[in-house]
Amino acid sequence: MPMPAMWARPDLLKGKRALVTGGGTGICRGIAIALAAAGADVAVASRKSDHLAPTVQDLQAHGVRAIGIAGDVRVPAEVDRIVQGTADTLGGLEILINGAAGNFIARSEALSPNGFGTVVDIDLKGTFNVSRAAFPLLKAHGGVILNISATLQLLGTVGQVHASAAKAGIDAMTRTLAVEWGPEKVRVNGLAPGPVAETEGVRRLTTDASRARIAEICPLGRMATIDEIASAALFLCSDASAFITGVTLVVDGGLWLHSASALGVDATAS
Ligand code: HXC
Repeated sequence: MPMPAMWARPDLLKGKRALVTGGGTGICRGIAIALAAAGADVAVASRKSDHLAPTVQDLQAHGVRAIGIAGDVRVPAEVDRIVQGTADTLGGLEILINGAAGNFIARSEALSPNGFGTVVDIDLKGTFNVSRAAFPLLKAHGGVILNISATLQLLGTVGQVHASAAKAGIDAMTRTLAVEWGPEKVRVNGLAPGPVAETEGVRRLTTDASRARIAEICPLGRMATIDEIASAALFLCSDASAFITGVTLVVDGGLWLHSASALGVDATAS
């Protein structure tokens, strides 16, 4: 079980109700646990129901209400069921984390239209589907949406045309929804992790050599931990960020900024 964010007070989000898609595993499981440790009641949704039961147990260990709902963010009827199930169990919704994602490495010429579309459907269209379905609940008492983005779309990341297109779309959607829904007291922000240790994304997308390269060029010298990403999520979900909307916060130890280091002097050299 990941550590809850180290600085969070147990009452930071008391009385808030949260839905975390992709919350059964990895980064979003860590965010869900951090929300619970900060006092929020939490629903986690995942395509695979076997991830949900252990996560719900870990959430309940923080003394909050928790529920796991199996469903696919690509299917509007399943999204309605996830959102309705959250409302029925928790009684409302103030925090939505859009974290459901899919990824694999494939160069563009080897990627089928369905392979491209599958990642766009999960990441980009899934984020839209869940945001749209949750909006009536979020605007009832004011709320926060946090879209989990990435940094791979900020550069020309090889083997990631599908995920880059999807994440760039999510960043654009974050800005549009922030403007459309701000007057309804719904803030919409993004969180863009770089590589995060011990996650499915890093297992799928990196090699021993690329992990060594990350440690070498990252200004902070390593990958993030899940807890560090969850800490940033808590900030963006709490009143600590009450006047922030429409931004995507990069949490990558400066890695992507230094990815262009081939062009200049090595900042780590003394
Ligand atoms: C090429 C592939 C492929 C691969 C799947 N496809 N894997 N093409 N290389 N390795 C193609 C298939 O051939 C098919 O196209 C299409 O994609 C759909 O595949 P399915 O297996 O039918 O889809 P589905 O069962 O819905 O699975 C979705 C998935 C899968 C995304 C393809 O990998 C998955 O379920 N992933 C969930 C977990 C996950 O990816 N977690 C990591 C997220 S990491 P055809 O044409 O054959 O029909 C992340 C962070 C990134 O997002 C940032 C890190 C730094």
